[in-house]
Amino acid sequence: MKRISLTILILLIYFGNSLAAITNVYGRDYQLLNGLWDVIVDQYDQGQRMKVYENKSPEGLTDFYEYSFKGGERLHVPGDWNSQSPELKRYEGTIWYGRPLNHVSKPGERNILYFNGVNYRSNVYLNGEKIKEHEGGFTPFEVDVTDYLKNGENFLVVEVNNTRTPQSIPAMAFDWWNYGGITRDVMMVKVPENYIEDYFIRLNPQSTDIIDIDIKMSQPQEGIEVKVTIPELNQVFQGMTDENGKIKGELKAKKLQRWSHENPKLYEVIVETSDERIVEEIGFRNIEVKGSQILVNGEDQFMRSVSFHEEIPQRLGRAFSQNDAVMLINEAKDLGVNMVRLAHYPQNEYIVREAERNGILLWEEIPVWQGIEFTDSMTLEKAKVMLTEMINRDKNRCAIGFWSVANETKPSPARNAFLKELLKTGKGIDSTRLYTAAFDLVEFDEDKGLFTMEDDFTENLDVVGVNKYLGWYHQWPLDPKNAVWEVITDKPLIITEFGGEALYGQAGSRDVVSSWSEDYQARLYADNLTMFENIPNLAGVSPWVLYDFRSPYRFHPTNQEGWNRKGLVSDKGQRKKAWYLMRDYYEKKKNEYRVK
Ligand code: GCU
Repeated sequence: MKRISLTILILLIYFGNSLAAITNVYGRDYQLLNGLWDVIVDQYDQGQRMKVYENKSPEGLTDFYEYSFKGGERLHVPGDWNSQSPELKRYEGTIWYGRPLNHVSKPGERNILYFNGVNYRSNVYLNGEKIKEHEGGFTPFEVDVTDYLKNGENFLVVEVNNTRTPQSIPAMAFDWWNYGGITRDVMMVKVPENYIEDYFIRLNPQSTDIIDIDIKMSQPQEGIEVKVTIPELNQVFQGMTDENGKIKGELKAKKLQRWSHENPKLYEVIVETSDERIVEEIGFRNIEVKGSQILVNGEDQFMRSVSFHEEIPQRLGRAFSQNDAVMLINEAKDLGVNMVRLAHYPQNEYIVREAERNGILLWEEIPVWQGIEFTDSMTLEKAKVMLTEMINRDKNRCAIGFWSVANETKPSPARNAFLKELLKTGKGIDSTRLYTAAFDLVEFDEDKGLFTMEDDFTENLDVVGVNKYLGWYHQWPLDPKNAVWEVITDKPLIITEFGGEALYGQAGSRDVVSSWSEDYQARLYADNLTMFENIPNLAGVSPWVLYDFRSPYRFHPTNQEGWNRKGLVSDKGQRKKAWYLMRDYYEKKKNEYRVK
């Protein structure tokens, strides 16, 4: 094993970076630690030197500290810091969060401190002691704080830093706002000494009625009885853990209603031991590829998708709540989608579950976005941790159809090796889903008069995503109606990004790209929709993007002002002309596929 990976391994073990975070945290016995936390904005990273995490107060005549959490600035948790004060709009650096924690310990009870998302890296301290560190802005992490908590008052400190680095994921430049902070819910979860840490309950990919069950207890203890009940199916599975605290089993479900877009059926599933009872809602469906088709429950489906960032443009900030999830998913539903590409990182669990309740299939990805240090073994370990944390959190969500490992990465032996490692890591946890990636390598071949793509990595994927901006970054080499594609024709192809910018309400020539007009954007969409009819293995499209979103490198002073204006909907929630073209196209596609 390379020295550097050994370092990572030691770090992971030391900080208890157990990659399997507790499953279905919202179905556990938890207390939210949300609200206003005291903060120290540490622009020059002096907090470590000053040991602010000790949260000392002066005693006696000569004691003094040049910091205090109490009486200083405060920030809402959850929530990015950029949208909470004008001074922090572009802040990249360290902010220390602190809050008291009252605790009463109970025999036989353990306390798991769980962070749903902190961007980008964090160090966690309890009563002045460092108990955890984590890197990755979009996946959950936890630490068992039982042995660190005192009865009465404790003080919790989280050091958060969102500075971009070449070895980060994403790295130095990415087309979205670098929102920093404790951006999602923080929870204290109460569990028994030996608790149900992880389970994976899903329809066997090769069956329409066998439900596979994997359960892992927190302790490697043999002989613990675990029961899984699905009342509506009148099915009960019971098993005893092996010496690793694990159980594998299955249920045969008569008259199973498989989850689908038309009928997003979710079953109550109860997982219990003598000490614990977890209730979860789980859907069961099949998804597979057959030639260039994507079959859901055996039926050929066209993915009517749209992409969106985890952002509420009207609030200029990260989405983090159930209400935010409802708003985003409802806007996607109005377009007529049956899929959403959650770009470009795992989004919060509220969004995933809201999509699932609405029968919307999800493409979920880790932010391996364009320029990543593919030759750096620590970067690979980070990507593996992010992928593992994403899959562990959402593997029981039937809405997830696709795991994607990359977006617009340049072909190279190092990139291929890196992504193959990710595929191996992913399939080692979950081999039931389709694995994919998005590429921006389709070119027009003048000799053949066809659009083609060369990237041998695609042979490792079940589905291939292609981002292509004809009419925006690339001018049409021929009339759209004559634009024929011959791209990875033996697999399903999803156009995972296409589109162009328009300022809502801006009229202009449908022939002039720089008009930033709704008219030009609508014409661009019409041309692309025409071309899509000539892609023989097209299995879906996902316009980029549902809403205008913030980006630090969209400089145009009147047309952009720090916004990427490719939204079908403006940052004020106004639908542009292209939105209606897309809505009609999806209505047509829906009827086409219903007929089949
Ligand atoms: C790329 C990238 C997106 C980006 C888009 C654009 O394809 O995947 O993240 O926002 O292009 O340029 O608008």
